Amino acid sequence: MAETRVRRPRRFLVCEPRHFEVRYAINPWMRPDAPVDVELARTQWRTLISVYRDHGHTVEEIDPVPGLPDMVFAANSAIVVGGRVFGSLFHAPERRPESEHYDAWFKTAGYDVYRPLSVTEGEGDLVWTGRYVLAGTGFRTSREAHREAQEFFGHPVIALTLVDPYFYHLDTALFVLDDDNVVYYPEAFSTGSQEVLRRLYPDAVLATRDDALAFGLNSVSDGRHVFIAPQAEALAARLDDHGYTPVPVDLSELHKAGGGIKCCTQEIRS
Ligand code: ARG
Repeated sequence: MAETRVRRPRRFLVCEPRHFEVRYAINPWMRPDAPVDVELARTQWRTLISVYRDHGHTVEEIDPVPGLPDMVFAANSAIVVGGRVFGSLFHAPERRPESEHYDAWFKTAGYDVYRPLSVTEGEGDLVWTGRYVLAGTGFRTSREAHREAQEFFGHPVIALTLVDPYFYHLDTALFVLDDDNVVYYPEAFSTGSQEVLRRLYPDAVLATRDDALAFGLNSVSDGRHVFIAPQAEALAARLDDHGYTPVPVDLSELHKAGGGIKCCTQEIRS
C-alpha cells in the first residue's frame, strides 16, 4: 500500500525566458540552426510558475538580461542550504556573466554569496538531499568545487561521476523525492558511482534511458507532488505507484537548450 506523502512548501527563484534562444551549443541537445519559439517558451514557463503557486509554493523572480539566453536555467547559478549561498562559476564562457546577476539578486535579498574558485554550476550538479550534498562531475562541475562546497557548507559532499553527455548535469540524471529517497537513471553514472547510489538508496526509484531522454529526471518534488515533464509518462506512472502525485508541466521549448523543469527552478532553503 502506498504511503501518504507530505508536501513541504518551498521557496523558488526563477528567471523568465524573455531572451531565450539557442545561439551556441554547449550540450548535445542544443542546435543553433533549429528555430526556437520564444513566445511558446514564455507561455510554457508561465504555466510552470502558476502551477507552483497553485500548489502553495513561493516563487521569486530575477530579471532576465538580454544576451544571456540560458539565464532561464536558474538552478545553475547557486545552491542555497541553510541560508548559505554557494555561487557559480560556469564552464562555458558564454554563461559566465550570468553569475554576477544572480549574486546581485541574492545580495539585495540580504544574503552573502560565496564565490567559488573552481568550475561549479549550482544545483545543476550539487543536489541537496536533506542530509548531504550529492555532487555531479565529469562534464561541468569540478572535483575541486566539491571540496569547496564541503568546506563552505560543513555538510558531506558525495561525488558522483556522470558518463553520458546527454545527461551532463546531475539534475538531468537524478532528483530527490524527499528526505528518504531519490529517482535516478543508473547508466548515466560510472560503475563506481552506481554502486555508491545503490548503497545510499537501496529503495530508489530507477528510471530508464527513455525516462531520462524525456527530461523525467529533471523534475521537482515537494515531497508529495512531483512536477514532471508529460513526455516522461512511464516514470510518472511509477511515481504514482510509490504514492507520489505527478503533476505534468510541459517545457518542450526549453528542452531545445537541454533544460527542463528543475533547470528552471532554484530552491532557496532558509
Ligand atoms: N543550455 C544550458 C547549459 O547547457 C542548459 C542548462 C540546463 N540546466 C540544468 N540544470 N541541467 O548549460
